[in-house]
Amino acid sequence: FRLPKITNEPMMAYAPGSKERLAVQRVLRDMTRELDQNGPFQVPLIINGERVTTARKTKQRMPFDHARVLCEYSVAEASHVVQAVEGAMQARATWEAMPFNDRAAIFLKAADLLAHKYRYKMMAATMLGQAKNVWQAEIDCAAELCDFWRFNCQYAADIYAQQPTENSPTTWNRTEYRGLEGFVLAYSPFNFTAIGGNLASAPALMGNVVLWKPSDAAVYSNLLIMEILHEAGLPKGVIQFLPGDAASMAEQAMGHRDFAGLHFTGSTQIFQQLWQKAAANLDVYRGFPRIVGETGGKNMHFVHESASMRHAAVQTVRAAFEYNGQKCSACSRVYVPDTRYNEFRDMLLQETARLHMGPPENSETFVTAVINEQAFNRIDGYLADIKSGKNASTTILAGGQTDASKGYFIEPTVLETTDPKSPTMVNELFGPVVTLYKYPAAQYEETLQLADATSNYALTAAVFADDRAAVIQASNALRHAAGNFYINDKCTGAVVGQQPFGGGRHSGTNDKAGAALNLLRWVSARSIKENF
Ligand code: ALA
Repeated sequence: FRLPKITNEPMMAYAPGSKERLAVQRVLRDMTRELDQNGPFQVPLIINGERVTTARKTKQRMPFDHARVLCEYSVAEASHVVQAVEGAMQARATWEAMPFNDRAAIFLKAADLLAHKYRYKMMAATMLGQAKNVWQAEIDCAAELCDFWRFNCQYAADIYAQQPTENSPTTWNRTEYRGLEGFVLAYSPFNFTAIGGNLASAPALMGNVVLWKPSDAAVYSNLLIMEILHEAGLPKGVIQFLPGDAASMAEQAMGHRDFAGLHFTGSTQIFQQLWQKAAANLDVYRGFPRIVGETGGKNMHFVHESASMRHAAVQTVRAAFEYNGQKCSACSRVYVPDTRYNEFRDMLLQETARLHMGPPENSETFVTAVINEQAFNRIDGYLADIKSGKNASTTILAGGQTDASKGYFIEPTVLETTDPKSPTMVNELFGPVVTLYKYPAAQYEETLQLADATSNYALTAAVFADDRAAVIQASNALRHAAGNFYINDKCTGAVVGQQPFGGGRHSGTNDKAGAALNLLRWVSARSIKENF
């Protein structure tokens, strides 16, 4: 298969006054005006290509101004799930048989439509709905989603090209990469619009049909993805869009004989529940379902005394506070050697003090609001325990103020602890909070072991060191503590096509989003031997 040349979508700078900044501001203004004039956008289910509006509706609110409703979305009931499964299974035969070039063309075209026609609309939907600032919205919607769609085509072509090299005389051996026999269920999170697109699209590209349950907090931007895919030519029924209640969706879809796979990104706890549901239904299924998930993280920066403290501190601010710490890869614990602790801490505090918090449309905003009340209460609870002395080992060095009166705002917060097993060193807060732990520089190896032992999750980690031996030591000690390991770079911002993303332990099955490894989970190979 010869595809057009696949490269990362170039990112734009959004400097104040730039063409792209003005363009996104214009779309934001238009969207806001439309909301003011006509009320919230209406988000239907999409089943067999048709928009289905249900009686039961829920609201997606703007996290930075929770009185404002971005959209009202229809909620899928059990009967819709049944209808969606039937429709998907009907669409499946034609879709799986479609030549790969024709399937790939749909996703390549979707990427071009997003990059050139819908970029700013998708960004505005993500800014208003998921409270991303303009740069985070560009990274997510424009760059990452285009990259997933395009690079997956390249990886798929590489998979199909993998064929047996040996044939005996008068035989021809070949491998056929079939889709799974059934449908794939995709559950996507709020924090990356691109992840929703990928969770639904990756199995589809490999010839599968998909039931897609988007996050309640990202339904509007996710609806736009569906619209782009259909405009690009995705046949009806291949991806069924079913916002609604996660538990009842699992009940219906995962109790079905044709359930063949789960493609999940979200919390560890929900993933465990879904896995248990699959296990309980094994007798019902036609085969063993593929279970693929990316879940939580408790990601670290480990600073060696040979590192540039300025570089480590600046990278920590970015990794901890970009998108308000709501990337699964976000840095939330930092190990700093005592010999350079004050230097690192002071630079970190200085950089943190420069961050602006506000609504996403303001041009200087770096930190916005966290996604919803539940997230706010969780993070606020950890901070309240520190303020009240319940978590006595930990103190607040900067930030710590919270205010949910208008939006769910939590100041970028730097904590310091004397206990490497304190709650904020081991639990995932999923917010703009980072904890520093001072370790004796002479006990570098022991502290690496400690960091590994306290890593129930294993998503991302970074080591900062100029000393090559220290880098190697960290790489060895943390071999299984992260699926994405960074040397002298922050632990966030994996780029599709460059750093395949995913982790192990309680962070997931490590089937690497944006890589052939992931796409291989969505095919079932058939070996064919033909005698001539
Ligand atoms: N892929 C995203 C990152 O690495 C989650 O930050």
